Amino acid sequence: MCVVGTVRASSVTGNVKVNTNALLAAARVPVDLLPWKSPDGLMNAKHILGGAFLFNVCMAGLQRVDDEGYGGYTVMDDCAFEICRHFEAVYHAKGRVLKTGLGLGCFVRMCLTKPEIEHIDVVEIDPDIAEHFGRPFADDPRVTIHVADAFEFPLKGKYWDMVWHDIYEEGNEGLQLQHGKLIKRYADHADLQGAWAFPKFLRRRMRETGLGF
Ligand SMILES: C[S@@+](CC[C@H](N)C(=O)[O-])C[C@H]1O[C@@H](n2cnc3c(N)ncnc32)[C@H](O)[C@@H]1O
Repeated sequence: MCVVGTVRASSVTGNVKVNTNALLAAARVPVDLLPWKSPDGLMNAKHILGGAFLFNVCMAGLQRVDDEGYGGYTVMDDCAFEICRHFEAVYHAKGRVLKTGLGLGCFVRMCLTKPEIEHIDVVEIDPDIAEHFGRPFADDPRVTIHVADAFEFPLKGKYWDMVWHDIYEEGNEGLQLQHGKLIKRYADHADLQGAWAFPKFLRRRMRETGLGF
């Protein structure tokens, strides 16, 4: 697992080098943001064994409810295994960046370690997540959080050097299809795009056509 030193974040594009320790440290959710429960009670987040987890309390996760009333389906966490999967996107991020889905803000914090990133727009559909997990970025001129559906976010006149898609839907069924639709939607507005856990053969195709990394 990529937890120490400088390692390769391999991909079909070749190998890139990133400082994993620095990125993992940056990705961590600030301790004062947890525990958290969304105002509608449908999401909660807490530390478990040192990692930050956010759960969606839905039918799929009812068996995971614990004695504190937390539980549900894991939507996201800041464990090394998850975070490593963003390294290549962080490596390719420069200039103006767009991220769909704020989540716990891990990707944004990693990007902010790079001086070559001028600005990051984040499109987050959930106002409670945007308000709570976006709070650490509220005074940062390099970050703008837009509360909007990434499928409807107005694109006219906008252009980014790199767009990274990582949204979520319940059960994550069809997630890559959704990411594919987003890649198509943003194609005329981005130099490079990628999506979390996108199938390798599609990534290769995107790279060959100059759309992806
Ligand atoms: C898996 S999390 C992203 C985790 C994030 N990469 C991080 O660094 O912490 C997915 C996020 O996408 C948001 N989301 C889901 N559907 C969306 C949509 N259509 N438009 C914008 N955001 C969306 C969810 O509310 C959630 O906050």
